[in-house]
Amino acid sequence: MLAMPHTAPASAETAGAWRLAALEAELRGRRPDLRVELAGTCDSTSTRLLERARDGDTRPVLLAAVRQSAGRGRMGRSWVSSSALCFSLGLALAPKSWSGLSLAVGVALAEALDPADARGEPRLRLKWPNDLWLGSEGRKLGGVLIETIAAPGVVPPARQAVIGIGLNLDAPEQLDAPAAGWREAEPGADAPSMLARVAPALLLALDVFEREGFAAFAGRYARRDALAGRRIAAGTLPPCSGAADGVDDDGALRIVTPEGALRRIDSGEVSVRMSAASSSSGSSPC
Ligand code: BTN
Repeated sequence: MLAMPHTAPASAETAGAWRLAALEAELRGRRPDLRVELAGTCDSTSTRLLERARDGDTRPVLLAAVRQSAGRGRMGRSWVSSSALCFSLGLALAPKSWSGLSLAVGVALAEALDPADARGEPRLRLKWPNDLWLGSEGRKLGGVLIETIAAPGVVPPARQAVIGIGLNLDAPEQLDAPAAGWREAEPGADAPSMLARVAPALLLALDVFEREGFAAFAGRYARRDALAGRRIAAGTLPPCSGAADGVDDDGALRIVTPEGALRRIDSGEVSVRMSAASSSSGSSPC
């Protein structure tokens, strides 16, 4: 039986519309050796870049796909969208601490698409630890999936990070959770123009994160924190519920329990959801 290829190239016409050479030239101002690639279809841009890294290719690369057939999300979930910007950035990083990286990436994405406006509320909000919401009522617009592997031979010592980003242009229909698409905010948006906006901001944020860690993003995160002050439930063991109280300087989620105790959740491998406004009864001690 013939193995199915993992990637099919984009047509010349499609590649032209993405203006890859111009984007690559711009991004090389920050990472001189970065390559920008586009697949027509791909199982998962993150899976492809992890496989390259495992094969020893740790050169910096941004791989976008017009379509993914096996997109992956956090906690082993699949990530499905037929109308979205999907890309992964693979590069060696050596921050002092990795804590809060997905939050810093979320800040960069949200600010690039929805710049701060002195008078208005931000349209894009961040839901700990890796979701972007359109508005504050829990409609997911996109997510960030960060995976790292050892990067042997990279000097100075670093890990190879694969930062996968999916941003809906149109809301997927079939999901069990409410979803949103960026075209609700900008009807003329398309994937190439979104990438041209978010990729430079992402590289800048990674430079800052490597030098200064999440603390440099904490204030900007707070401005877009979708959970702050809400009643939430975290799927820790034992489960923990209470009022969300922002995040610490290392990106840990703070929860004040009904008993008044402060809990910190620092593992990104935990699901957090909003609970009904009045549901203080039945919350578990944590
Ligand atoms: C999540 O919401 O749990 C994270 C979603 C991340 C999806 C992106 S799309 C590009 C990259 N390739 C993948 O397979 N996943 C990420």
